[in-house]
Amino acid sequence: MRASSLFTTITAFMASQKPETVYPINGLGVTPAMGWNNWNAFACSVNEDLLISTAEKMAAFGLRDAGYEYIVLDDCWSLGRDSKGNLQHDPAKFPNGMKYVAEKIHSLGFRFGMYSDAGSYTCARYPGSLGYEKQDAITFASWDVDYLKYDNCHNQGLSGTPKITSERYRTMTDALRAAGRPILYAICNWGEDFPWKWGPTVANSWRMSGDIYDSFDRPDPRCPCSGDEYSCAYPGSHCSVMNILNKAASIIDTSLPGAFNDLDMLEVGNGGMDDEEYKSHFSFWAAVKSPLLMGNDVNVMDAKALSILNNPAIIAVSQDPLGVPAVRRWRYYVNDTNQYGQGEIQMWSGPLFGGDQLVILLNAGNSSRTMNATLADIFCVATGIAKEIQEDWDVYDLWANRMDDATAQSIIDGTSIMGAGTSVASFYYNATQVSYKEGLAANDPLLYGKLTGTVTAGGAIETEVPRHGVAMLRLRKRTTTSFKVQDV
Ligand code: GAL
Repeated sequence: MRASSLFTTITAFMASQKPETVYPINGLGVTPAMGWNNWNAFACSVNEDLLISTAEKMAAFGLRDAGYEYIVLDDCWSLGRDSKGNLQHDPAKFPNGMKYVAEKIHSLGFRFGMYSDAGSYTCARYPGSLGYEKQDAITFASWDVDYLKYDNCHNQGLSGTPKITSERYRTMTDALRAAGRPILYAICNWGEDFPWKWGPTVANSWRMSGDIYDSFDRPDPRCPCSGDEYSCAYPGSHCSVMNILNKAASIIDTSLPGAFNDLDMLEVGNGGMDDEEYKSHFSFWAAVKSPLLMGNDVNVMDAKALSILNNPAIIAVSQDPLGVPAVRRWRYYVNDTNQYGQGEIQMWSGPLFGGDQLVILLNAGNSSRTMNATLADIFCVATGIAKEIQEDWDVYDLWANRMDDATAQSIIDGTSIMGAGTSVASFYYNATQVSYKEGLAANDPLLYGKLTGTVTAGGAIETEVPRHGVAMLRLRKRTTTSFKVQDV
């Protein structure tokens, strides 16, 4: 064959091949998963009513439409295996079986998530899926499950290197694929064996720390590794928001669209943090593209928790089409201690859709303070000077249009009717009708917060940040004549 015709043949062959989609592994979860998981508030107290009534409440509160899509059942749902080795649900907790629960959840407009473990037992000592991956994946598919959380307890020593652990988890990746149903795959091995190095070829997300605890910064011996450097032999539990965030800082840039570091379920609304702390927690989980799984009891949700969880300007950061996590640009210790030790301040930033830039100023000190950040730090690049530093920017505060308490309370009390034409509609974004991507492209003001100032070329942002709070800001390039988005 002549060289030129060989070239033509190869070119034609390559054009006929669809590029291999490596990330996400299954085409699912291109933006971080959103939903609810029972573990943080209910642990093993699970049953059919809890899942279905939570889904009903979330729909009524507008949270389904805001994007919280998955209702995820955690550990303790099973009874054992039958004589053929099939997983059995506990009939006392789930009298109508799991397929029935899936059907109910689907009929309410949600997707259904379940839990198993890449070991012989789950953490609460129910049967695990190690050695039963194919059979269990088929069972989950037959129950119409849409999401699998896959834990790491009792793994029979099959850990210790990235190769051993990733292969154990990949067995379930393959089993889910073979089972033929699209099932989002959320692995939960607490950062053991560096899942951020191999996770994107195995799962849609991977836990990168020990279990979260409902505290902003309380140290706990059960969470022995500090976040100052990521080298953690025993991930543990009872890890505070600051502990997890500081661990995430060194590895968060490994997330990709469809393959995200998971900082664990949210604690917003569980009562252990104050309002500013919960806002900080939620802001960061959105900014770094962690999955956003609510972890509270929606039956006792208060107005402040609802107006954090339903803030469309923050959720739009989580669901940003670029899927790029914000990264930490600087961190300083400050002489402003609480009972747990030295305070600190940090600045994180990262790119958003449309050439915008996210900036978060975090005040983890013990009192309110004025903080600032230069454009040079916000647009920090490895070499040279970012051209963005020479631009003028409008500054949008993403918390400024948060829903007021009275409106949030009226939604919780059921005295406010959700939907177009009501005052509530002016606070809510309905992502089931118009995706966040489309809304951002259409400059929907709900997604852009409130214009609060400008920063000119070479300048700096300066703002007051409350104790344990954040300023969560979106910079938009300033056009010469007008603002891009009408202020609301
Ligand atoms: C832990 C996991 C928690 C929860 C619990 C259930 O390993 O990190 O999120 O799933 O197991 O036993």
